Amino acid sequence: MERTLLIIKPDATERNLIGEIIRRIELAGFRIINLRYLRQTKSVAEEFYAVHKGKPFYDELCNYMSSGAIVPMVIEGEHAVAGIRELIGKTNPAEAHPGTIRADLAVSLTKNSVHASDSPENAVKEIKFYFPREEA
Ligand code: CMP
Repeated sequence: MERTLLIIKPDATERNLIGEIIRRIELAGFRIINLRYLRQTKSVAEEFYAVHKGKPFYDELCNYMSSGAIVPMVIEGEHAVAGIRELIGKTNPAEAHPGTIRADLAVSLTKNSVHASDSPENAVKEIKFYFPREEA
């Protein structure tokens, strides 16, 4: 069993897609074991995305991730990190395969509806970020 972090981003919460995204995650056989609904400040978004600091899209990304409600959640399942990455599709929705969350629901590279951890190591860190009391 493995755990990963997925965040439903402001473009998706705004368009009432929380249920649709959760439905796809559960239908794929994964279990949601913790979730929150929150709005974060820009400085919290900057801290979460610190690995992208200095990249041309960093400021826009952090403004966007503090522009509306987000739903971070802990997901558990066999090979959850790779499995959830597959389910959400490529970062740029224009390049994502049909049937993936981003291909079907996302708006643009920034408004790409969801984030998910890209490695088991990052999953542990990212889960701790939004769920400090969650066991790894
Ligand atoms: P996410 O998986 O949340 O990780 C970083 C985010 O930065 C990414 O999804 C995109 O929404 C956003 N982003 C904006 N521009 C780019 C870019 N050129 N390359 C990668 N990510 C980008």
